Amino acid sequence: MQKKLKIAALISGSGTNLQAVINACIKKEINGKIVCVGADRPNALGLKRAKKHNIPAFITDYKKIIADNNIEKKLPVDFNIKKISSLQKLFDKTNKKIERFFKTRAVAEADILNKLDKFKFNLIILAGFMRKLTPYFIDKINKDSKTPKIMNIHPALLPAFPGTDGYKDAFEYGAKIGGCTVHFVDYGEDTGAIIAQKSFPILDGDTLETIKQKGLKAEWELYTKAIKLFEEGRLTLITKNAAGRGGFKIKREIVKILERMV
Ligand code: GAR
Repeated sequence: MQKKLKIAALISGSGTNLQAVINACIKKEINGKIVCVGADRPNALGLKRAKKHNIPAFITDYKKIIADNNIEKKLPVDFNIKKISSLQKLFDKTNKKIERFFKTRAVAEADILNKLDKFKFNLIILAGFMRKLTPYFIDKINKDSKTPKIMNIHPALLPAFPGTDGYKDAFEYGAKIGGCTVHFVDYGEDTGAIIAQKSFPILDGDTLETIKQKGLKAEWELYTKAIKLFEEGRLTLITKNAAGRGGFKIKREIVKILERMV
């Protein structure tokens, strides 16, 4: 039996995806274990699930950090605004609001990294974690460019409807098919390489509530499947030529799913 995959999970809300992954590990659908759960707020309901399963948990209180007037004094020593701005496209250093965004996030992310440090993990899953991770964090986790180590589940068929409310956006747009996506996390907003997707029909009688129900059910299945592929060492990134906006040719990293080894 291969060694178990050690998974760190970050959450913000009710944690039903976290629960699905915990269950899949218990049922051995994934040869893995959740080693810790981190939340961006103290009252994230999913923390109760961690407690129930005796999984160590921690909180990095983003709201407090964002409101902190003393942020300059708390910046991690290796935070380099020039480096972050060159990595993060569209980051205009002269825009003080954006600069503050990256500074507060670096303080929060340094706190998460610090709290994660004592856990040995091979993969971080974002399970309804509603905070953007910046290059400061991502580059400390991803050491090998071909095997990223942060996954996210998103409530839409990306690249349609990125952002914070995928099901609502798809519903209000009048989409006839809804779905969810598991992808690796890169510097953009829900732009990372797609690992797996699952769709469902949006019917005339559907409401936002029924769409969310169908969507979550699909998510629980899909996240388990994607994590299992990672655990089996079957996910790698390859670079492909693609059409960018305006017809420009760009290079895009995409996920290649390797055959199962016998
Ligand atoms: C899920 O629908 C997930 O796709 C979404 O938050 C919900 C969390 O539910 N995530 C995002 O929108 C990320 N941008 P859960 O807390 O019950 O797992």
